[in-house]
Amino acid sequence: MIWARAEGCRVWDDGGREYLDLSGGFGVAALGHRNPRVMNAIAGAPVVHALGDLADAEVTAALRRRLPWPSKLGVTGEDAVEIALRTALLVTGRPGIVAFDGAYHGTGLLALAATGFDAFRDPFRAWLPGPVHRYAYGEDTGPLPGDTACVVVEPVQGRAGARVPPPDFLATLRRRCDDAGALLVVDAVYAGLGRVGELWPGSDVADVLCVGKALGGGLPLSAALFTRPDHASAWDLGEADVYTHTHVGNPLACAAALVVLDEVPKLLDRVRVAGERFARAGWEGAGLLRARVGEADAAERRGVIVIPAGLDGELISATPPLTITDDELDEAFARLDG
Ligand SMILES: Cc1ncc(COP(=O)(O)O)c(C=O)c1O
Repeated sequence: MIWARAEGCRVWDDGGREYLDLSGGFGVAALGHRNPRVMNAIAGAPVVHALGDLADAEVTAALRRRLPWPSKLGVTGEDAVEIALRTALLVTGRPGIVAFDGAYHGTGLLALAATGFDAFRDPFRAWLPGPVHRYAYGEDTGPLPGDTACVVVEPVQGRAGARVPPPDFLATLRRRCDDAGALLVVDAVYAGLGRVGELWPGSDVADVLCVGKALGGGLPLSAALFTRPDHASAWDLGEADVYTHTHVGNPLACAAALVVLDEVPKLLDRVRVAGERFARAGWEGAGLLRARVGEADAAERRGVIVIPAGLDGELISATPPLTITDDELDEAFARLDG
């Protein structure tokens, strides 16, 4: 399927067929596709590209001030995870990573090492950094291995199929990290920015919180947020920024992010109510990060876009715009079940 147009919660393909988009483009379009405020912010940007880590555009500096903690910006979600994991190495000097089954953290080698999907890891296994110690998601790890630099965890697992851990899971991991002198990295790239009903899920326990996807309003942008701000100074490594990208802090993405940070807090109640509607329709998960058994191709034939999910691809996941209306939800469910 080729996307010819995307507006709000709807997408049209190149043949003119219309679809309800329950994917939100992998959860990116939190405010809906082509949100007018986002489009205006992009169109009015006085700088399109500045000098990455050497010179911010004004809007990039404004975003840094607007984020609630000191941050290091990235382009993709995987960058944010990479920054967080490297922070743990810099702070502790240890190489070990504790990660979970069903985890998805991205496809660059370091994030891939922590990712729990063998299909992604197997072709590159010989090059994966580590050691990585893997545990069952949702269960207490017990005392952490002595070489652990950090535990990396999603507050709700996305790609594995909207897996919600027991309520005390993150707090238990925090205690295990404190006992071991390790950092807790909360990967909220999917779950963050309102998707599970909170702006910054896991920020109460995290050392570093990763956000991405929705942050740039449709443009590529991510951030590792130093919720324990002293860890930011681990990156004072000399003149050059030794982890950077040409497009870091892109002004268009930052202009859009300022809109996202303004608008998403107004939608948190709506996420709760819409999430309850999903639950009544048989979808597991939290907020607007949902999954159920199904087949994405079959859904597409019925005019609904969802994403394959689950450890064996047996699920479909729904991460629609947080702006989705009751009528649009009813229409989507009727199409899926009709
Ligand atoms: C929890 C989580 N972390 C990290 C990533 C990687 O983000 P990106 O694909 O933007 O690199 C994803 C992508 O789906 C994700 O769901």
